[in-house]
Amino acid sequence: MASRSLFKLLLPLPLVFVLSVMATAQGLKVGFYEKTCPQAEAIIYEEMTEVMSVAPSLAGPLLRMHFHDCFVKGCDASLLLNRTGSVPAEKDSPPNLSLRGYSTIDRVKARLEQACPGIVSCADVVALVARDVVRLAKGPYYNIPTGRRDGNRSDIRDTLGNLPPSIFNFQQLVTMFSSKGLSVKDLVVLSGGHTIGTSHCSAFSNRLYNFTGKGDTDPSIDSEYVPKLKSKCKPNDVNTLVEMDPGSFKTFDSSYYKLIAKRRSLFTSDGSLRSNPAAFALVMRLANNQAEFFKEFGVSMVNMGNIEVLTGTQGEIRKTCTLVN
Ligand code: HEM
Repeated sequence: MASRSLFKLLLPLPLVFVLSVMATAQGLKVGFYEKTCPQAEAIIYEEMTEVMSVAPSLAGPLLRMHFHDCFVKGCDASLLLNRTGSVPAEKDSPPNLSLRGYSTIDRVKARLEQACPGIVSCADVVALVARDVVRLAKGPYYNIPTGRRDGNRSDIRDTLGNLPPSIFNFQQLVTMFSSKGLSVKDLVVLSGGHTIGTSHCSAFSNRLYNFTGKGDTDPSIDSEYVPKLKSKCKPNDVNTLVEMDPGSFKTFDSSYYKLIAKRRSLFTSDGSLRSNPAAFALVMRLANNQAEFFKEFGVSMVNMGNIEVLTGTQGEIRKTCTLVN
């Protein structure tokens, strides 16, 4: 699978496009609600415009929410379900504890239920909200195939081994992404989501204070950047948030790739994109070509949004996103 992903990276763009389009043909289609709820996407955009005008910092967590939903049992909104029995739900898993914005999803879904009861799935709401926060953060607009249906299981154990930790190296990332049908190119492009939002110091402080267990610093970070990060993040700080793309963390742009080029990215995973020649070549291209990043981001988000989706008569359309019907 990993070698197939590398192969795809080497293909000419038009062919990659054809393969990507083929990859979306699983019962999803652009404009799925055209007849059943024609105003659905407009309602979501209207709500998100209002939310972003008062709480722009929700863009990061809402984009990340779609990623964390899709990587655990597919894009089926299982992440949104509350725990019901004795087993904790996906949202109770450590990597998901820093997610925010669930009430925004509930708000959007409530408006959709008013307009077209029982039609628009929570899984599509998550995907469309992620699309709209990117657009509202001055990023690209892209069409998303819709028609996902909602799952009815959310179990913390499903998150194990499916959400990449920040300490992953390149090969570990490639293996995980390819297990979801995503290529090296998707990995590089989707990591660009880190152009918006914030991170807790605890997600990368090992690189500052204890990289190999000997109180050392990760030598791959720009040595002039280390004191700046250390001044923001003291040892064992679990509360402070830092901008992932300092100076433009509310704006969706290609500066994330410029940071990688300068060895100034926060996570081992981000920095690891330098360690593979093909991935690093793409990083450098995207750093210098925002239009290409925008175009590819839409393509890769569609690929991610297609992971193990439920369609047709599978699953259900939840009335409330936190509960099965
Ligand atoms: C490649 C593997 C990835 C790793 C290891 C990773 C890891 C992380 C970590 C550790 C955080 C900080 C969480 C916190 O401390 O609050 C974070 C934040 C974030 N991630 Fe990723 N991530 C990855 C891929 C992605 C993808 C594919 C997307 C979306 C396309 C994404 C979007 C985001 C966003 C927007 C934030 C900021 C969240 C906020 O502002 O609260 N990440 N990521």
